[in-house]
This record gives sequence, structure tokens and C-alpha cells, in this order.
Amino acid sequence: MEWTLTSLPIIQGPMAGGFTTAELVSEVSECGGLGSIGAGYMAPESLRLLIQAVKARTRNPFSVNLFIPSDVPVDTSQVEKMKQWLAPYYQELGFAEVPELSFDPGLFEKQWDVVLQEKVPAFSFTFGCLTGPQMQALKAQGVYVMGTATTLAEALVLQEQGCDAVVAQGAEAGGHRGSFLGETFELIPTKELVQNLSLNLKIPVIGAGGICDREGLDKVMTAGAYAVQIGTAFLVCDESGASKEYKQALLSARPEKSEMIKVFSGRWARGLTNRFTTEMKVHEAEIPPYPLQHWLTTPLRRKAQELGNTDFQSLWAGRGLGTLQAGSVREFMAKLTNPV
Ligand SMILES: Cc1cc2nc3c(=O)[nH]c(=O)nc-3n(C[C@H](O)[C@H](O)[C@H](O)COP(=O)(O)O)c2cc1C
Repeated sequence: MEWTLTSLPIIQGPMAGGFTTAELVSEVSECGGLGSIGAGYMAPESLRLLIQAVKARTRNPFSVNLFIPSDVPVDTSQVEKMKQWLAPYYQELGFAEVPELSFDPGLFEKQWDVVLQEKVPAFSFTFGCLTGPQMQALKAQGVYVMGTATTLAEALVLQEQGCDAVVAQGAEAGGHRGSFLGETFELIPTKELVQNLSLNLKIPVIGAGGICDREGLDKVMTAGAYAVQIGTAFLVCDESGASKEYKQALLSARPEKSEMIKVFSGRWARGLTNRFTTEMKVHEAEIPPYPLQHWLTTPLRRKAQELGNTDFQSLWAGRGLGTLQAGSVREFMAKLTNPV
């Protein structure tokens, strides 16, 4: 079986949080890879405009990625306790008090409607599974569908559900773990996970985690991947929406600075440690579950970004650190495809 969606087997990983600009996504697709919009937290109308902006810049395939929602009851006393712990940080950034917890529990359904209305070439998702009718709706439009798995058990569920390919998210991957089966999460190295999945699945496996150059790409392809998905190395590209402080932190970080972090969102994610992650670690056992903690810290992280303050921003990053280089998407894609 060959990878036929794009001319190059390279996917720019979806990255929610405003990093996947129209420029980044379309340029990756123009270079022969698959650009991806990380729309997890995006307001529906902003997503619509972004899809249209990407379409205006490229006729090549691109994808949209959403987070599968889960119902979490709000425990008011747990939320109030967290607000007290967050208060000094909010005050430090100039807030009179911690903003009330505010989020739209119906966000996914609204984003989903936009995806179907805008008819996108490819769709990927993480944190769970689609429902049968949702999968059918995508298939009826001829959309290429990719789910995220961190174990073989999850990958088999996604294959059974009708996914066209599975993203094998290895331990080295930056951002949130996509784990959706079991109480705990497993951290299987990318190469090992790709090998195991490619032996046991009938559908293509996309290797993700820690890849930042041609050598890393070749290793994962040799392990049995049909394509690779790269996140962190695209964040430092000129076209990405990451702030200059975030890019600088990534460019100067060593791999050991990237750790599993729960305190920003209530869901485990790999990123750079900073003052917030270090000081809040003592409360790790009492963090409200995702997405509650994510929304509780959103105004703090936004303000920190505005101020260029990396102490209170989530700096998601994979383990492929140490050799990252700033530059354009075109330059990076050339490095990935030129012989070593
Ligand atoms: C800042 C950031 C945000 C991310 N957001 C998402 C997301 O919204 N959806 C998703 O499926 N994966 C997300 N990921 C994972 C990436 O798509 C990709 O699989 C991962 O970055 C690969 O590992 P690497 O960072 O070591 O290259 C994110 C990763 C980062 C670094």
C-alpha cells in the first residue's frame, strides 16, 4: 500500500491554540505535505474563515483536527480551590480576581457543523472516537479520516470504526496525549509503537513524536510508517503562529526540558517546564479534569502570551529538541526530503 493523499508522506501536525495559521497550513500543502488546522479550541466562525483562507491559498489537500469531547461534571468546591491557587498568578499579571470558569459545552457540535459545511479534504481527531453517524457523514463526503492512538488497543478501535489511517502518537510527541482507553496513559516510544501498529493493522500508520529532521523521519518510516506527523519542528517555522518568545524557548531547549505536564489543562501533555509547571506540581493530584482546568487557566495563558511572559504559558514541545532551526516551511520541507 502506498501513501496517496499527498505527494510527500509528511503531515504538519494539527496544533490547537492559534499556531496553525493559514500561511503555515497552506505552505505545507503547497510543498507537497499535508497541512493541518488544529481547531480544538477554535470558535466556529473563526474555523470557517480559516478553512476558507487555506482554500484560497492552496488547491492541495489539507486537514482539520478536532478534540472529541467528554462529559465532565463540574465539582464546584474543587474549582474554587483551584481558583485560590491560581489567584497569585492572575494578580501578578494584573487581574483583580480570577475570572469565572466559562466555556461552551456545545463547542464541538458547532465546530463539527462547520467542518461538514466547508467540505474539507481530510479530517483528524484525538482524545477519543467519532460516533458511527459522524464517521458516515465524513465518508459520504469522501473525507480522508485519521484518528489518534497511543496504544495498539486504541488503534484497533479506530480501525474497526472505519478510520482511513491511524496516527501513532509516541511517547516523544509534543502536546496532549490522545489516550482514550483505560484510566492511565502509556508512553510507548514512537518507533516501537509504529512497529507494533504496522504489524497488526490493515490501515496505514502515521508515526508522530520526536521527529525533527531527515534522520528521524527515515527511522520512523523504516519502522513501518506510511507517513510521519511533525508538530514541534513546524512551530519554529516563520509561518507558525507561535509567539517569538515561545519559538525562542523551543530553539534553545534541550530534550530533557520537555516533560509530561498536567497542571495547565487537567490532561497530560508534553511541554517545556517553566515557573507555573514547577510551582503548581504540588497540586497535581487535585487538578480539575480536562477541559475544566484548561478553561480556568485560559485567561492567564492568554495574558502571559500578550505580555511575552513564558512563565505562565503552556509551551508544548516534543522531545525532538536541540537541533531545531528557525526558517521557512519551504526550507524545512527541503531539509526533510533532501538525502542525508
Ligand atoms: C503546541 C502543540 C499543540 C498540539 N495540538 C494538537 C491538536 O490540537 N490535535 C492533535 O491531534 N495533536 C496536537 N498536537 C500533536 C501534534 O499534532 C503532533 O502529533 C506532535 O506534535 C508530534 O510530535 P512532535 O511535536 O515531537 O513533532 C499538538 C502538539 C503541539 C506541540
